[in-house]
Amino acid sequence: MSNQIARSADRLKVDVYVDEHGMLESMPEEVRIGLTASPKRLAPKYFYDEAGSLLFEKITELPEYYPTRAERDLLHDISAELMADLRPQQIVELGSGSSYKTRQLLSAPSAPEHLETYVPFDVSESIVQEASEELVSEYPYLSVHGVIGDFGRHLGHIPAATGRRLVLFLGGTIGNLDPIERVAFLRQVSELLGPEDRLLIGMDLVKDISTIEAAYNDSAGVTAAFNRNMLHFLNRSLSGDFNPEAFEHRCFFNQAESRIEMHLVPKTPQIVTLADLDMSVTFTPEDSLWTECSYKFTEESLTEMLADSGLSLEHFYTNDDPARLFGLALVGPID
Ligand code: AVJ
Repeated sequence: MSNQIARSADRLKVDVYVDEHGMLESMPEEVRIGLTASPKRLAPKYFYDEAGSLLFEKITELPEYYPTRAERDLLHDISAELMADLRPQQIVELGSGSSYKTRQLLSAPSAPEHLETYVPFDVSESIVQEASEELVSEYPYLSVHGVIGDFGRHLGHIPAATGRRLVLFLGGTIGNLDPIERVAFLRQVSELLGPEDRLLIGMDLVKDISTIEAAYNDSAGVTAAFNRNMLHFLNRSLSGDFNPEAFEHRCFFNQAESRIEMHLVPKTPQIVTLADLDMSVTFTPEDSLWTECSYKFTEESLTEMLADSGLSLEHFYTNDDPARLFGLALVGPID
């Protein structure tokens, strides 16, 4: 038994380039800029303190929140064939979180024959460490080399592959980036791809508005709590005095921009002080806080995004039951 444990520990390594402190270093400046802008806006990364990450996990289990289940079902259907066709030596996952969905790929029948290394890349050290320990014990054939960093700065630290590399960007996180940001991001990611390497991108798809809007206005109020959690995060990190309950969760599909927008709108004017920033901000029903965009794609917008990013579409997978809930695009470099 202890032999077994020692052997799994030998297959596990986590390199840390950014800690929570490092991530929070840019927060004061970003919050100051966001709260003096018009409209007032903060980045969705400020949802995810520990409580926020737990609330997001609860969201993925809500009956109305279809994307996580749809992507998991899709991965379930395609994993064996995808792995047998590509035979990657290394899988890199950007924003790996708990690596829950990745297990479908790691469990593919062909995986032990060709897959050697899984590289989870995430900002959260504790989540990657915990997931990696589980993975090396669940998959005796696998080495796990985690990288804790920031997409913008640390992609260069991903260990070299000796064979084909498959990069994963799942969960629909690409939807948090606006059209310009996502092309810049994909261009960076394309530098990780040799001619034979592939990238699998998960994205939520345009569909009837009521299905999309219900996923972000759940009846149990979990998404509202997730949205308000950003205010708790600000209170704690910057000595703020937001009253989160004074803000309403407002979320709708902006059809012209093909995106869900989440806002926090005070019922009455709120004067909020952020002591660490030496700053007071007034929020009114007309001048509220925009917390998230979640873009929804069509095959057309996907094609445009890839063309702008120097990537070519090899295969587009979508659910057929119910139709076209979520998409997985398998893409490679343009040759
Ligand atoms: C993690 C960005 C994919 O956009 O659906 C869920 C985040 N926000 N409910 C999404 C989210 C509100 C989620 N992503």
